[in-house]
Amino acid sequence: MAEFDVIIIGGGPGGYVCAIRCAQLGLKVACVEGRDSLGGTCLNIGCIPSKALLNATHQLHEVHENFEKMGLMGAAPRVDWARMQAYKDDVIAGNTKGIEFLFKKNKVTWLKGWATIPAAGQVQVGDDTHSAKNIVIATGSEPSTLPGVTVDEGTIVTSTGALALPKIPKSMVVIGAGVIGLEMGSVYTRLGTQVTVVEYLDTITPGMDAEVAKAFQKILTKQGLKFILGAAVQGAEAGKKGAKVSYKLRKDDSAHELEADVVLVATGRKPYTAGLGLEGLGVAMLPRGQIKTDGHFATNIKGLYAIGDAIIGPMLAHKAEDEGMAMAEILGGKHGHVNYGVIPGVVYTTPEVASVGATEEQLKEEGRAYKVGKFSFMGNGRAKAVFQADGFVKILADKATDRILGAHIIGPMAGDLIHEVCVAMEFGASAQDLALTCHAHPTYSEAVREAALACGDGAIHA
Ligand code: NAI
Repeated sequence: MAEFDVIIIGGGPGGYVCAIRCAQLGLKVACVEGRDSLGGTCLNIGCIPSKALLNATHQLHEVHENFEKMGLMGAAPRVDWARMQAYKDDVIAGNTKGIEFLFKKNKVTWLKGWATIPAAGQVQVGDDTHSAKNIVIATGSEPSTLPGVTVDEGTIVTSTGALALPKIPKSMVVIGAGVIGLEMGSVYTRLGTQVTVVEYLDTITPGMDAEVAKAFQKILTKQGLKFILGAAVQGAEAGKKGAKVSYKLRKDDSAHELEADVVLVATGRKPYTAGLGLEGLGVAMLPRGQIKTDGHFATNIKGLYAIGDAIIGPMLAHKAEDEGMAMAEILGGKHGHVNYGVIPGVVYTTPEVASVGATEEQLKEEGRAYKVGKFSFMGNGRAKAVFQADGFVKILADKATDRILGAHIIGPMAGDLIHEVCVAMEFGASAQDLALTCHAHPTYSEAVREAALACGDGAIHA
């Protein structure tokens, strides 16, 4: 008799959600987590702490930029970095303790320690070997650096070190204009750091709708971030004071150097599967280090599954959560399913940037006939009242059927607004369906409706 129905390895958003849902479906479940707290990268050193720092520094930015405009006068607050860090740590603790509570409530056993899989159906944690009918690997990912760049988490840091620098640096070079680079770059720019972002490609945020990416770069530049695009970083070296970054411009192969107090390497993440014993088990892997799975998260080993950042697909907490739920349903005898066509992506800068579905570039590449409905936040009274009228909503719909194919928003609360379109897309809605839905006034969401109207007879406030 197996001790557990399911053992999940990893207590991040993929693993803990899977564990809770398995328990809710009546399975006897354990989750192995070696960190002192649950929640994985997301809650401990990723999404949640970065949002705390983004919030604190956004408030600071508001004080400097907009308070006087609203008649709020007086001395601007001084930054106490240690207290800001303590606030961030409190936010982390509140969230990770919450997961611990949910484990207790749902009777999920937390096996504390690092797991290995000595044989199919067995999980070893420390000196104990546990047996399970099914094992789910949800071990997530870790930062991947570049050749010639040695991370010390002091001067040359990944997102982990960038969240907990001992002091606010005067200057920072960010390698990579992806989500991490721009979110952390925004945090430090607002704290007074001179941030220079060096990016290999000719645009920021690769994969984002090009029109949105262009507008985003313009806004971030206005906020003080400096961009060097088309630049391949060759290496970074830490010295006694700060570090040197060398890069080559791709257009003419010319070599350049930059110096900064801190260098943040934000060039992507890679699956974290080391130490599990997958090689010994003969688990099939993909060339880029992900565990190979079928459409139901099954590996080539019977009873062994994998979800989240450890498998193929966007490395996003909510993608992992959805896979965790679907996995649990499959193990519980139901029909778990993830719609990979409707997974939103959000960058939590100010303004926020959010997208779902196809970009205009993808539709062009596929040769699809589409129409574009666009609406600027300049025509949205609520956005204007809070000085956030920079940005727009763009809806892409099928030219013949009007079915929504994608949406891209840069503007206030974009990360929340996008979900109206996600729900619409799940229901196979047309742009007209959104346009005919009454939206409360005055809300930012009216901009989404106006963009949908622009797919038809036209927006009203444009
Ligand atoms: P990323 O893949 O988003 O961006 C990496 C950037 O580095 C790319 O633009 C790439 O062209 C550039 N790059 C690569 N090699 C380079 C070189 N030699 N020189 C200059 N530039 C180079 O990776 P990032 O930002 O590190 O994020 C990692 C993962 O974490 C992503 O999958 C991201 O989606 C996820 N994440 C999501 C967040 C969110 O949803 N808000 C927040 C933070 C991370």
